[in-house]
Amino acid sequence: MTLIRSTKQFASWRTGIPDQSVAFVPTMGALHTGHLKLIESAAKQCTNVVVSIFVNALQFGDNADFEKYPRSLEIDYEASISTGATVVFAPTANDVFPPGFSNYLDPSDLANHFEGASRPGHFAGVVTVVNRLFELVRPHIAIFGAKDFQQLAVIRDMARKLHPNIQIQSVQTIRDEDRLALSSRNSRLNAQARIAARVIPEALFAIKSEFEAGQSDSAVLKQVALTILETSPSMTVEYLEIVDCENLEIQEMASAHHSIALFAGNIDGVRLIDNVEL
Ligand code: PAJ
Repeated sequence: MTLIRSTKQFASWRTGIPDQSVAFVPTMGALHTGHLKLIESAAKQCTNVVVSIFVNALQFGDNADFEKYPRSLEIDYEASISTGATVVFAPTANDVFPPGFSNYLDPSDLANHFEGASRPGHFAGVVTVVNRLFELVRPHIAIFGAKDFQQLAVIRDMARKLHPNIQIQSVQTIRDEDRLALSSRNSRLNAQARIAARVIPEALFAIKSEFEAGQSDSAVLKQVALTILETSPSMTVEYLEIVDCENLEIQEMASAHHSIALFAGNIDGVRLIDNVEL
């Protein structure tokens, strides 16, 4: 059980470790139960579980957002280790992207819409850092949350091309008691906004139940959700679409096991994303 703060120290630890025994959970810290479920799943499968904690400036469009990102290394270290991590890898920015670093990646076309459109450069930053971390960690398995569904799809694509030996796994979205998806951004919601945010899971699960009751017309399903979202005046919807799980193309008709409703919106200046698979 170790905290490793440099790539050099990490490389030295990694030298003695068999390739098939390493599961990897990349994070930006501020860990909550959602992150811990990924670590739990890793620990069930591999004897060596590496959790990285690295707030990646490349994926933030706005420097203020990067500065504001919560940092809690000691608490995160304790939580990771007690959940089954064997190594917490928290390198410095200079170490991850040393002077002269040039391996900046472009994400696949799956990054063009939704989060990619709202946050230009975001997925380029994500695939660049995840590729770099994969090169350093050399895991057998890497685990991501379905909460960030488009990120998962973009990373799967990158890994298929550049790291075909790494198995990319996903863990379903972990939700609070009121079904709001756990997110490090939830802490920015004041009490009133936190209550208002409940309309997000309510709307998404309404799509799911309408679909299960036989409605597959996306326009109708979206309207059901929008009607619920509109009950919260502080909510602005950025996008709400029913898309194909594989290629993320918008679907006019939803179909079982192939469709997912993707949502992004803003409550009192806090941007939240969520999704539900149909
Ligand atoms: P971060 O936001 O810290 O999330 C780390 C991982 O936890 C991601 O795979 C994310 O999808 C997952 N996660 C977050 N909330 C979750 C929830 N409620 N249920 C299940 N999983 C959840 O995503 C990133 O960091 C970064 O972009 C990263 C991949 C580390 C690259 O910098």
